[in-house]
Amino acid sequence: MNRLTHGDLIKKMTLEQKFRFLTGVDSNATYPIPELGISAMRCHDSPFGPRVQTSRSEYAAKIVSAFPNNTGGTEAVATAFPTGSALGATWNRGLLQDVGRAIGQEHKAYGVNALLGPAVNLKRHPLCGRNFEYFAEDPVLSGELGASYVQGAQENGIAACPKHYIANNQERGRFSVSSEMDERTMRELYLAPFERVVKKADPWSIMCAYNRINGVYASESKQLLNDILRREWGFDGVVISDWCAVKDRAVSLKASIELCMPYQADAYDQLARAYEAGEITDEEVNGAVDRLLTLHDRTSSAPKDPDIDFEAHHALAVQAALESITLLKNNGALPLEADKLRHVLVIGERAKKPFIGGDGSSRIKNPAHLTTPFDEICSILGKGAEVDFLGEADINSFDNEIGFLECKVIEHAEKADAVIVFLNQDFSCTSETMDRSDIELPPYQEHMLRAAHRVSSRVIAVLNVGSAVSTYKWARCADGILVSWLGGQGMGRAVAETLFGLSNPSGKLAETFPRSLNDVKALENYPGDGRKTVYREGLMAGYRHFDTNRVEPDYPFGFGLSYTAFAYSDLRLDGLDVSFTLKNTGSRAGAETAQLYVSAPEESWLYHPEKELKGFAKVFLQPGEEKRVMIRLTERDFRYWNPMLHDWVSEPGEYTVSVGGSSRSLPLSVCLTVPASHDLTFSPSDE
Ligand code: BGC
Repeated sequence: MNRLTHGDLIKKMTLEQKFRFLTGVDSNATYPIPELGISAMRCHDSPFGPRVQTSRSEYAAKIVSAFPNNTGGTEAVATAFPTGSALGATWNRGLLQDVGRAIGQEHKAYGVNALLGPAVNLKRHPLCGRNFEYFAEDPVLSGELGASYVQGAQENGIAACPKHYIANNQERGRFSVSSEMDERTMRELYLAPFERVVKKADPWSIMCAYNRINGVYASESKQLLNDILRREWGFDGVVISDWCAVKDRAVSLKASIELCMPYQADAYDQLARAYEAGEITDEEVNGAVDRLLTLHDRTSSAPKDPDIDFEAHHALAVQAALESITLLKNNGALPLEADKLRHVLVIGERAKKPFIGGDGSSRIKNPAHLTTPFDEICSILGKGAEVDFLGEADINSFDNEIGFLECKVIEHAEKADAVIVFLNQDFSCTSETMDRSDIELPPYQEHMLRAAHRVSSRVIAVLNVGSAVSTYKWARCADGILVSWLGGQGMGRAVAETLFGLSNPSGKLAETFPRSLNDVKALENYPGDGRKTVYREGLMAGYRHFDTNRVEPDYPFGFGLSYTAFAYSDLRLDGLDVSFTLKNTGSRAGAETAQLYVSAPEESWLYHPEKELKGFAKVFLQPGEEKRVMIRLTERDFRYWNPMLHDWVSEPGEYTVSVGGSSRSLPLSVCLTVPASHDLTFSPSDE
């Protein structure tokens, strides 16, 4: 910590030092000024575990040498936590805080000042290549989970860096595409998760997006960065550019980008030229330096826990994977009873080589542990059962057209008491820089399922995917379907425990699983003409569209089954506090995420989604146990963004508050009369 005040430091810094301080010196570090006690600050990926080169940290190098089987070459060992879509499916704020804390602690131990995450962009449509990094298609869920993660991470004295501000919803044209939308859509959907994170968790940094918004680069948008983020929401941290997002350093400085990353050769000259021409002022330069110094103060302490407890973090990674597993279908086949099975067939390469993360900047190359579903299934079954496996080598050597693949599956499945089929899309479908081209599984995987279904009445499908896929064509061939997402290093254990009922699934979809791409409203406007993508669907993204326009998805937002059952009753309203009773009516302990949605008055003359998520609570219950659950609403939950007034406004009328276990299953509801927030009558003087 520097004992000089920022004012003193700024006086002592030369103009050159200031300009250099505002841009990185390499791919991850800021410019150090040792004579003034200012050390380099390091900014590193990823939101699911640290990605630090061992050459950057003595401690990282020491740890790597203690893990002789490391697979990541020069990368530090890291606990690989589940990716964003999995964490989103947990709907568990406390868990996200724990995960954020653990990831933050690992970063801090490796000398990181700013952890580049969480990614809280909305999933506008299912093809976005980075959906696996994002939490949800809903701003309340995304913002709540993001805020909890930030709170946990920052407890370590490092900055979290929520990203990518804003509307980074596709990878096509990712460096320049303009996301074009009206003000209401921007406020209610695409700014909203960031607003929640900023107001609830006070992140010390935030990352601007690559793309443009209504024609203006996110890195140059005074309106988004200065007027909304800083002035309106009170953000007092540092805006870091996405890597190479800055076009002109002086323009970005004026818009309020304090730190341009990584090193950019022309940044210094751009600042110097603009300063000489009077286009940037001392006040702007010193203001940015001052805020960067604050980041330095906040993040330069020694780590509180200098050693990483990889065992404890692995247990947390397993727990996070467990809570993310989402059971979509169960005709009674699950959970499997280990002691009754003599012969199990496991099909699919992912059983032995699971996808634990996606590709790009978030990919953990050197996970501290790796559990594979196959090994964990074998370990739970023990010696009493024989486990047969058909992987890539068996399956790819068959010619689908003449049915060899099916014959092989049938031959093995016939002998099995249960068939567990691991399904996935190609790895390139879960990648930064690339969008997916569809939501279907490769046809040969459907063939495997169909064949297994012909001879077995216990076929379980495990979807090892990073985002929504269509299940429509093959779901009837599976007796049970669960989504394991890209579940991190603990996924293998979590899948096996769930299959055999050692753990009860409690994940709920944070994104709609559409039946077909044609059903997704936002797809009509994707990917745009290469230069711009118009968000013509407005508020009709995700379940807002499916529910309002009565389109049947495969599985709706908020959906997820359990091995037990829950009953909702006795909804009461006390002011804006909504309470109800939730009871576990089954015979196993389990967790339910109760969801609260608000619908605008029927007579509203405005366009509104049929309902919108405003609150949720994940509740753990023993068999037979019941609890009163309370969800507190705020006035803002009944307001929409009025572009004429530039404010959140409520229309007067009767709103419906509904509660239940998914957006399509809301057994409780109550009406609530809300007064007008503004006087919207026009007086003659308005004319
Ligand atoms: C990604 C960011 C990432 C950064 C640093 C960019 O390409 O968009 O999410 O944090 O690289 O690796």
